[in-house]
Amino acid sequence: MEKKKENLSVQRQIVMSGIRPTGYLHLGSYFGALRNYVRMQEQYDCYFMVADWHSLTTHPDTKELKNNVLRVLAENIAAGIDPSKACLFLQSSIPEIAELYLLLNMLAYKGELEKTSTFKEKVRLQPENVNAGLLTYPVLQAADILVHRAKYVPVGKDQKQHLEMARNFAQRFNHRYGELFPEPEAFNFGEELVKVPSLDGAGKMSKSENQFATLYLSDTDEVIRKKVMKSKTDAGPTQKNSGKPQEVENIFMLMKLVSAEDTVRKFDEDYANCTIRYGDLKKQLAEDMVTFIAPIREKAEHFYHDHKFLGQVVEQGSEKARKSAKATLELVRQKMEFNYFSH
Ligand code: TRP
Repeated sequence: MEKKKENLSVQRQIVMSGIRPTGYLHLGSYFGALRNYVRMQEQYDCYFMVADWHSLTTHPDTKELKNNVLRVLAENIAAGIDPSKACLFLQSSIPEIAELYLLLNMLAYKGELEKTSTFKEKVRLQPENVNAGLLTYPVLQAADILVHRAKYVPVGKDQKQHLEMARNFAQRFNHRYGELFPEPEAFNFGEELVKVPSLDGAGKMSKSENQFATLYLSDTDEVIRKKVMKSKTDAGPTQKNSGKPQEVENIFMLMKLVSAEDTVRKFDEDYANCTIRYGDLKKQLAEDMVTFIAPIREKAEHFYHDHKFLGQVVEQGSEKARKSAKATLELVRQKMEFNYFSH
């Protein structure tokens, strides 16, 4: 009897990730991160958080914030995050994160914070606003993760250093005050993270660089077609079975993400035989992109306007997240012996 009960309440591993409410989601964020989240929600206890406090380090105007938060929620749900499976919540609804952030700040050193690559990058980008929040950004991120005692953090390469810092802060806490936090690690589901190449032949799709070379989940059919038709190619193969130059390889990579296998194979053969027509290749890719993106865009649009629904989602999510955060802070206070007057 006892045993059965135990089995039923087997704890699933905790996964936590944060999404900054700045910029629109694009194909790179979909295949690089979101698709991973969608798979994880089936097997893990997932906490996905909109990092609205973090966004103040670069976007202090809170008038913009509301729309950005609503949109990021709508887009993530449209792309497959299921609020009945994963906990979707706002950072600003969980005061325990701020409390833990304050405590972790005493375990973080000025030198290591100043050395962080993202900090140095931001100093370069916004020299007029080098605020302390920017410096302690990784401490807040560590608090986001540790407050749920999460083990796995699905993030891209650019977040590796932040995660390493979170592990350091966790270790320092455990060492000084007693074992409490698991050391969080970067995690992705199955295969290597997919890199989504940009349409201009160089680099990958990103929020900040060349907007015309990036496909957003909010792009209209017309915009998608235009961007794809303008993508870079070369003069075409002149020798049978020759390798593809990077820009052509990129088009094939994008095709592999959204087109049927037969379609990719056909164009691959045409390329090898030197009979390929780039116009046809792009037209096909454009149509398959539209088929892929349009339903997500339409769903996002729908959720974005359904304030009541989004409100319920974050209310429910925050309730669960808060419970988990409160339980951790209770233990933090015990470990740090803040309970001066009990027994
Ligand atoms: N820093 C992350 C980014 O720029 C966002 C983020 C905030 C985050 N808190 C987090 C990611 C906690 C993982 C875990 O994308």
